[in-house]
Amino acid sequence: MTLIFAHRGYSALYPENTMLAFKEAEKAGAEGIELDVQLSKDGEVVVIHDETVDRTTNGKGYVKDLTYAELKRLNAGFRMKMNLKKEPIPSLREVLKWLTGNSLICNIELKNSIFPYQGMEEKVIELIREYRLTERIIISSFNHYSIVNCYRRAPEIETAPLMGQVVYMPWIYAESIRAKGIHPKYKTLKDEVVKKSEESGVAVRPYTVNKEKDMVHFIKLGCSGLITDDPVRALRVRKQI
Ligand code: G3P
Ligand code: CA
Repeated sequence: MTLIFAHRGYSALYPENTMLAFKEAEKAGAEGIELDVQLSKDGEVVVIHDETVDRTTNGKGYVKDLTYAELKRLNAGFRMKMNLKKEPIPSLREVLKWLTGNSLICNIELKNSIFPYQGMEEKVIELIREYRLTERIIISSFNHYSIVNCYRRAPEIETAPLMGQVVYMPWIYAESIRAKGIHPKYKTLKDEVVKKSEESGVAVRPYTVNKEKDMVHFIKLGCSGLITDDPVRALRVRKQI
């Protein structure tokens, strides 16, 4: 079965990468969530997509230049056209703690391609181990050196390189870096690649699949997972197939 991962939580309806969006994804029945992490000035792993807080919060500046306390004062929900109470930027610790009370799979994307964030992999791995979630986490990144580093440090945690453009024979590439899956941009993904990868035991989870016809296509092709902003639509589509 193709598992449905809510991209940045249920971000089609709720403010991305907030506890509200994650909780709504779970309520909707998604099997997994995807989230992005950056490091604060004082080294806390925080859940936010961009390197700056400008787009998604009422603040300004780089995440790496703000302390965790400063980040916590911001509202990550103010842009949504709903009357929401303040939605703070969650720490990864808060999300992992919440995950111990449910059975969701969590895809943590390390946002370490623009800033290398010294020690990010170690901190993320330590937290995953602390909450005993190694079997329910998939670490992904566009930085494939980081994916290799994570595997070396924690071979028990699944990894999946992100691919803005699918590489040549990605199922062989994935095996060579000991990744159990690949997360390709759906527009660059050929049917043959899905079939060959899945046959080789490499899970394919394309991102970000929001249109019904694309959902039908990748579910029918046999992708292990699908990353979408709209888990409700994807679950309905999957049910109808
Ligand atoms: O998980 C895939 C997807 O999240 C990667 O792109 O920019 O949405 O983080 P982006
Ligand atoms: Ca992401």
